[in-house]
Amino acid sequence: MNLTQASNSELNELYLTLKKQYEDYCCKGLKLDMSRGKPGADQLDLAEEMLTVLSKNEQMLSREIDTRNYGLLTGIVECRELFSEIFEVPVKNVIAGGNSSLTMMYDTMMRLWVFGAPDGKRPWCAEKKVKWLCPVPGYDRHFSICQQLGMEMIPVPMTENGPDMDIVEALAADESVKGIWCVPKYSNPQGYVYSDECVRRLAHMNTGAADFRIFWDNAYVVHHLTEERPVLLNIYDECAAAGTLNRVIMFTSTSKVTYPGAGVAAMAASDENVEWSKKIMTVQGIGPDKVNQLRHCMFFPDINAIEEHMKKHAILLKPKFDAVADILERELGGTGAGSWLAPKGGYFISFDSYPGCAKRIHKLCADAGVILTNAGATYPYGIDPEDRNIRIAPSLPPVSELTAAMEVFCICAKLAAVEKILGV
Ligand SMILES: Cc1ncc(COP(=O)(O)O)c(C=O)c1O
Repeated sequence: MNLTQASNSELNELYLTLKKQYEDYCCKGLKLDMSRGKPGADQLDLAEEMLTVLSKNEQMLSREIDTRNYGLLTGIVECRELFSEIFEVPVKNVIAGGNSSLTMMYDTMMRLWVFGAPDGKRPWCAEKKVKWLCPVPGYDRHFSICQQLGMEMIPVPMTENGPDMDIVEALAADESVKGIWCVPKYSNPQGYVYSDECVRRLAHMNTGAADFRIFWDNAYVVHHLTEERPVLLNIYDECAAAGTLNRVIMFTSTSKVTYPGAGVAAMAASDENVEWSKKIMTVQGIGPDKVNQLRHCMFFPDINAIEEHMKKHAILLKPKFDAVADILERELGGTGAGSWLAPKGGYFISFDSYPGCAKRIHKLCADAGVILTNAGATYPYGIDPEDRNIRIAPSLPPVSELTAAMEVFCICAKLAAVEKILGV
């Protein structure tokens, strides 16, 4: 039944049925978590051999250094080479760091905030106003960084080709707009891949701020769910061609390749940006965890080894994404209670409810023991103007739990839509 075309009596009848189904689920004492994009335990198990590739003193030497000791601020060369293949940028422009790309993004933003960019007039904290472009829906932790610093976040609608570039170009002309978040491949939460045109326009556009920065968070660069391998235009080369190489700072990590708690993160940027980062990092620390970097490089001698490993992840993940898609289609297809995307990679399924229902669905699910990412989390300040978007994270629960959770979710989505239409 299409809820938007149903009569009042049909809706009233459905309301009572759904309420009964919902209450039955509430009595089951479920405890299911679809809130964050964490790998399942079976995925973590895939990296077991990495734990034993280094077991002897004599294996601890990298080409340049004894990895057990202090030093080498930008990481061991083997690791920088590996990330240089992933980023498709020269090794000299890569910094291999600790276990989290989010930390690297935060640190980079803090450096800009406190010290200013190498091509900027002053530290950003000394600017009257700093604005930042936030493609929406987007990644909540990106938004939290801007919010903590008191930047003004400006939402920019996402399209299937990336952020709406007409809007980005218009906004970037304002000199108080200092940058933009981008998750260019399998975007969080939609799974979109930026088109060539979008990448070119980002690299070539005029910006009011000379020190404008694109935070190019390629978190899902090797995280395919299908056989397709979408090619993302290399923004580093585009920026080089446009004479805007300082504009882009790239980030990634092996959090969802090996371990989210014990992976390796990396960033890549222009010579000037790397020198600027290093100068500040020299005071911040003496070097990253090079033992972990080395064991990653022994486990993954090159990018092909990562690609092969990621196929094993896809074998575990794809059935979970398929289960979610099947239940959504079976329960909500044609009802008007929501729409969703079928990503070809990444970690999420983006769901748009009937307008004004996302918060209600979140609450109904929570009361029935199903934890979702907070409604609104995919928007700056947690404010989804249409109260529609919910990010579904299918990776963590086993398929049986996921199925139960999605059944509850679909009942809640229908119940919330019927309540909204009836005004109850
Ligand atoms: C887009 C995006 N960037 C970064 C991260 C976190 O990466 P890391 O574990 O390297 O800090 C996530 C995790 O969900 C993410 O979705």
